[in-house]
Amino acid sequence: MDLIPAPRIAVPHEDGHHHAFGADPALDAGPGTEDTARWLRRELGAATGWSLPDAAPGEPGELRLRIDPVRAGGSGPEAYRIDIGADGAELTGASGAGLFWAAQTLRQLLGPDAYRRAPLPGRTWSVPYAAVVDGPRFGWRGMMLDVARHFMPKDGVLRYIDLLAAHKLNVLHLHLTDDQGWRVEIKRHPRLTGVGAWRARSRWGHRASPLWNETPHGGFYTQDDIREIVAYAAERHVRVVPEIDVPGHSQAAIAAYPELGNTDVVDTAALEVWDDWGITANVLAPTEAVLRFYEGVFEELLELFPAEVSPFVHVGGDECPKEQWRASATAQARIAELGADGEDGLQSWFIRHFDGWLAERGRRLIGWDEILEGGLAPGAAVSSWRGYAGGIAAAEAGHDVVMCPEQQVYLDHRQAGGPDEPVPIGYVRSLEDVYRFEPVPPKLSPEAAAHVLGAQANVWTEVMEHQGRVDYQVFPRLAAFAEVVWSWQPAPEERDFAGFEERMATHYRRLDSLGVGYRPPGGPLAWQRRPGVLGRPIEGEPPNV
Ligand code: ACM
Repeated sequence: MDLIPAPRIAVPHEDGHHHAFGADPALDAGPGTEDTARWLRRELGAATGWSLPDAAPGEPGELRLRIDPVRAGGSGPEAYRIDIGADGAELTGASGAGLFWAAQTLRQLLGPDAYRRAPLPGRTWSVPYAAVVDGPRFGWRGMMLDVARHFMPKDGVLRYIDLLAAHKLNVLHLHLTDDQGWRVEIKRHPRLTGVGAWRARSRWGHRASPLWNETPHGGFYTQDDIREIVAYAAERHVRVVPEIDVPGHSQAAIAAYPELGNTDVVDTAALEVWDDWGITANVLAPTEAVLRFYEGVFEELLELFPAEVSPFVHVGGDECPKEQWRASATAQARIAELGADGEDGLQSWFIRHFDGWLAERGRRLIGWDEILEGGLAPGAAVSSWRGYAGGIAAAEAGHDVVMCPEQQVYLDHRQAGGPDEPVPIGYVRSLEDVYRFEPVPPKLSPEAAAHVLGAQANVWTEVMEHQGRVDYQVFPRLAAFAEVVWSWQPAPEERDFAGFEERMATHYRRLDSLGVGYRPPGGPLAWQRRPGVLGRPIEGEPPNV
């Protein structure tokens, strides 16, 4: 059946029979299954030409959708089962989400052509008699997409939501702001996008590269775009987690509103949206006025991302250089007034302000693991990126954790060691390396391990100038990642990578039908290479930190 991610149990009927669907199967959609029925009509309908008419009352439909937590197998709200026999296919979810994942599995069973957007002439459709019983290992199965370094227009984001859903991934973390661009409309501060969403040029390659792309770059999502993205994701049981990065990674905001910066140290009015990569010294000033400004930003954001969609709001908190605060009389006065423990204490004061502010509004703060320094409210969660250590410390302290160690699951890192990899960055993280990524470090106590909500693969886009480059870095590795976070895998060294590769043969054909520009197993195609554009490869195996 070549399912990816592998289900818990999939038992093909021993006689090898297939159910051949009729010209237009009747759909019997039970109570609570409307979302999945609509999705099937839209997506499978496009591929097959089926309209999937409602089954007549009392008649068994050839395709039956049910919500029934007991029958779905009991492994949590996202569990499902599929039963295929002579009377067609029955999909049972423990919840709407479980049923939706069942529909994704059915699409895989129908074959790669089920991912096309129009039917091939004469194509008929059958599925093997089988029982599939399935449910995920983790509740947070995510991908972070950096739309700040290179903007991905809205249609590309909607496409990625479909790609995540096709792999049973359920979190899209959108990195909406950084030094190089501000990507979400904030009505009360229009210059954030009016100025902050545009830059004059971009470094072409990693920062070691002497080349520049002189084409101006930019773009942003209007508030209605965000509403559409969030609703589209919700229909596919994908949660969108927004990130506004503070107090570092904020030069685009400072370029738009110079008073947000450390005006007693630098002439912030002369700053522009950054055209280079790396970490800039231009960080937010630790003042009450800046807190009020960002409260206004978060107020609009909370309205765009309702709590039912994402209780979590990501505040970044990573890589905030302290040199301007050290030089700033205003920042030093603030440290004295607060009795803060130097500049690091000031950073944690800044983050803890939003921790409390979000908690008062029924939300949960999540941030990069630097936010641990200085202590957090009990409800706050941590994205462990500098390795496992931050996640381990957070989980042992009772905080929820999303594991995304850069040494393992940063998909901007190169996927092979050869000279043809486009703009090679970081360690070699091959398909097999990602397949053997383990989100729960063995040294965690069982109580701490329960705080690992799951994991996400992070896609930083400095050297991904368009969607084709994103596809190349993300696929096929996201398929391996999906199996890590969905399937119940043995220890990394015991995982059956050869078996996964065999299933990938079919999965590449699904990706072809979907139009995904993945890295072929034999290496990049001519137009996927970037000859002469410097990256920053790191040799050797990544440290286990
Ligand atoms: C990060 O990679 N700076 C979170």
